[in-house]
Amino acid sequence: MQTAHPAASGAGPVLGIETSCDETAVAVLDGAGRVLAERLRTQLAEHARFGGVVPEIAARAHLVYLPEMARAALAEAGMAPGDLAAIAAASGPGLIGGLIVGASFAKGLALALKKPFIAINHLEAHALTARLPGLAAGGVAFPYLLLLVSGGHCQFVAVEGLGRYRRLGETLDDAVGEAFDKVAKLLGLPWPGGPALERLAALGDARRYALPRPMRGRAGCDFSFSGLKTAVALLLRDAAPGPLAPAHAADIAASFQLAVVEVLADRTRNALALFAQSHPAGTSLVIAGGVAANRAIREALAASAAATGFRLIAPPLRLCTDNAVMVAWAGIERLRAGQSDPFDHPPRPRWPLDAPDMALA
Ligand code: KG4
Ligand code: ZN
Repeated sequence: MQTAHPAASGAGPVLGIETSCDETAVAVLDGAGRVLAERLRTQLAEHARFGGVVPEIAARAHLVYLPEMARAALAEAGMAPGDLAAIAAASGPGLIGGLIVGASFAKGLALALKKPFIAINHLEAHALTARLPGLAAGGVAFPYLLLLVSGGHCQFVAVEGLGRYRRLGETLDDAVGEAFDKVAKLLGLPWPGGPALERLAALGDARRYALPRPMRGRAGCDFSFSGLKTAVALLLRDAAPGPLAPAHAADIAASFQLAVVEVLADRTRNALALFAQSHPAGTSLVIAGGVAANRAIREALAASAAATGFRLIAPPLRLCTDNAVMVAWAGIERLRAGQSDPFDHPPRPRWPLDAPDMALA
């Protein structure tokens, strides 16, 4: 439940906190959205030997590092805690232990300082990143079409305004980042697999294997990636026993990435057509999430956008993957709209963008 807070109307500096997965991140932005300080600590080292994020380890690491990172960010911004106008924390969706750590820290600080606390939907933070005034594009105006592609999410969203999100299509099974990670694992690449797979694909022949293009040519803009992942697994099962030759692995990586690129381009054409019909004022396609770091995907989406008269807005890589600048910025947008949240606002593992409580009060 969103409630108005007496101190919420004037925008001032906001502290943003991100702890929904395996990045501990804090950022201080001034009321105009300029980044005054940011800190990000990835937990790759803690989780690498398990081949994925272990929720309990993640939560404990957030607890260990968050307080000192927040202190350091405020010091770098040249600010005392009392100078903050509000504290915003990612409160879902994500791993519940980490969310509780970040949200509780933010609430404690807000309570002590008598400042508003703002519970941020992590997906909204990704969705609004492109509106940061400091970006080259100068901050995109509503409405726009968002393609959110990360390890946990794969969806098209019509972003109509703050708190007004309409899902146009989504994955029926795996998220695209998850598919990258699983195929990378099959190829023996280190976790997280996406970046390693992209590097390997650059060395291979993408036409060597004719992998399936799930959903291509179908109406609508849903995705499916589990069949593509299975096709790679079958290819490997039929390969000669023993370690894969490097060139062979590179050809598989390149063939997989090309299949993903072609599927995303096809789905994006449909999504743009659907979006343009219902939002004739929109001219921007925004990508967000870790997979938006992939160069081949960016290039294909830029071409799909241009073919439909849209421009592609791809935030810089550090703002595509999980970070706290986006959380602080979403906090500023909500603070400007006079919003804040009560201290009993519950962090939650699932929190769809189009949930009823995302709408402004
Ligand atoms: O948004 P993000 O940092 O975390 C969440 O999942 O919320 O996204 C991480 C995902 C992982 O699945 C990772 O493998 C993928 O993004 N990823 C990539 C690339 N960089 C990161 N996938 C393909 N190509 C990349 N260059
Ligand atoms: Zn994310």
